[in-house]
Amino acid sequence: MDAFIDGLPKVELHLHIEGSLEPELMFALAQRNKVDIPFKSVEEVRAAYDFSNLQDFLDIYYQGMNVLQTEQDFYDLTWAYLQRIAAQNVLHTEIFFDPQGHTERGIKFETVLDGITRALDDGRKKLGVSSFLFMCFLRHLPEDAAFETLHQAIPYKHRILGVGLDSSEKGHPPSKFERVFAEARENGFLIVAHAGEEGPPEYVWEALDQLKVNRIDHGNRSLEDGKLVDRLVKDAMPLTVCPLSNLKLCVIKDIHEHPLKKMLALGLKATVNSDDPAYFGGYMNENFRAVTHALNLTKQELATITKNSIEASFLDKNGKADLHKKLDDYMKTAA
Ligand code: ADE
Ligand code: ZN
Repeated sequence: MDAFIDGLPKVELHLHIEGSLEPELMFALAQRNKVDIPFKSVEEVRAAYDFSNLQDFLDIYYQGMNVLQTEQDFYDLTWAYLQRIAAQNVLHTEIFFDPQGHTERGIKFETVLDGITRALDDGRKKLGVSSFLFMCFLRHLPEDAAFETLHQAIPYKHRILGVGLDSSEKGHPPSKFERVFAEARENGFLIVAHAGEEGPPEYVWEALDQLKVNRIDHGNRSLEDGKLVDRLVKDAMPLTVCPLSNLKLCVIKDIHEHPLKKMLALGLKATVNSDDPAYFGGYMNENFRAVTHALNLTKQELATITKNSIEASFLDKNGKADLHKKLDDYMKTAA
């Protein structure tokens, strides 16, 4: 099964580029930029990645970002991620970045965007990995900070396909940003939002009805509300599920309890993604392996997940058809 997963053509739809900062690169950039970090070794960094909830993780994640200073740093970060996923047979990826995590530290929006997009362009040319970029608003910050970030992004609309919502979920419902997302939609940005990771089903309803999302990131807690499940199924609303993230952030107690198989059985458009792979123990293949072994997923279920990801991507009709064909060809030889 592991060899089947390795060879499966994959699509990633939920990845925070800052969450792909491996400890080795963190040390290299700290040295290059003469930034102090509170760790003596790579082992010490990894040992610190022991989280009880989302906030525990976010505290370390924002601290890790301090080493990212120059356009080249953002290029190196993104390029390292693309090389890793190309080696895992990920053919298309739609990634997030958190501009406010950097502009708040005095880094220019353009520095961040230029480094990431230069690497994504190289990924397309040199690795054959296609990609789209999404910008997330940090929901623990006020509405006016999100508006300011949206206004910074508008001149770069051709490089940023859409906007999302991330960071501390509890106490920061999607409704807090209804007006920001309305303006983002008016400007032609696609819309996604983290909802139902730690927050209640009501936050998923708000993401649907007030933010008018094209996709829900996580969505696990939707399962607590039958009417919400019916709505998500009826709308064929994709959920970008992140198994190892759920485990590391204690959204689930044990990987055997992961709701992915149940989501598929209910007819939900669930997909598998890595979220913050440097912090949660793995990229796409590791996520697929963990759930496949724990839940006894079949090759057919893995193909369904990948089909869901292709359909849930923002590729055009031809781009999707190309990936569907690659998946069908693979299933003919490997199933
Ligand atoms: N930022 C990075 N990863 C996140 C996650 N899993 N949930 C909310 N915000 C995040
Ligand atoms: Zn996320």
